[in-house]
Amino acid sequence: MSVVELTYHGHACFSIDVDGTQLLIDPFLSGNDLADVSADQVAADYILVSHGHGDHIGDTVEISQRTGAMTISNFEIQAWLAGQGVERSHPLHIGGGYDFPFGRVKLTIAHHGSALPDGSYGGNPAGFLLTLDGKKIYHACDTGLFYDMKLIGDEGLDVAILPIGDNFTMGPDDALKAVKLLEPKVVIPIHYDTFDVIRQDPQAFAGRIESETASKCVVLKPGDTYRL
Ligand code: NI
Ligand code: MN
Repeated sequence: MSVVELTYHGHACFSIDVDGTQLLIDPFLSGNDLADVSADQVAADYILVSHGHGDHIGDTVEISQRTGAMTISNFEIQAWLAGQGVERSHPLHIGGGYDFPFGRVKLTIAHHGSALPDGSYGGNPAGFLLTLDGKKIYHACDTGLFYDMKLIGDEGLDVAILPIGDNFTMGPDDALKAVKLLEPKVVIPIHYDTFDVIRQDPQAFAGRIESETASKCVVLKPGDTYRL
């Protein structure tokens, strides 16, 4: 029996347990008042980083050094992480995927920025299309709406993780349009309430998803786990 468990840590951060292998996505824990776990406790075998902004790359360096986790991101961020002393890394780039021991990671486009915390160039921002034990999970990370989401939806998504905070990313109106393009079985809203300018009502968003689309919406609080 395959088991894929998604545990939300607030903002865009998830732990994904794939048959015991721990993936950690965008570990912004230090400085995130909503996070349910700390950087010195969270488990990681692999750390996936979508783009260079501090609320995504977060504690990647510290966690990688403590756990020995391999980092996965675009080439430019990998080069920067190497300069910070991160030893195990796997660079990818937009449209490219790789079959890791735990499953496949493909980088998708995202319309956003990607400067690193010290101002270094972080390449283009990305989303993740994950194939884990036959399940397809799309984590859009930070992006505006784009029509090519239709192509990502053609993969047949089990879960789409979408920002709804507005201001820096899609807000609820465009996230609803994204769901209509992606047609996932389940939608999980993220990237809201962390800062004052991205306050949203996820239950109101869930109500719209369930009344206007065929998708189910699962609202996770930090620390909550969704199994698929
Ligand atoms: Ni960002
Ligand atoms: Mn962000």
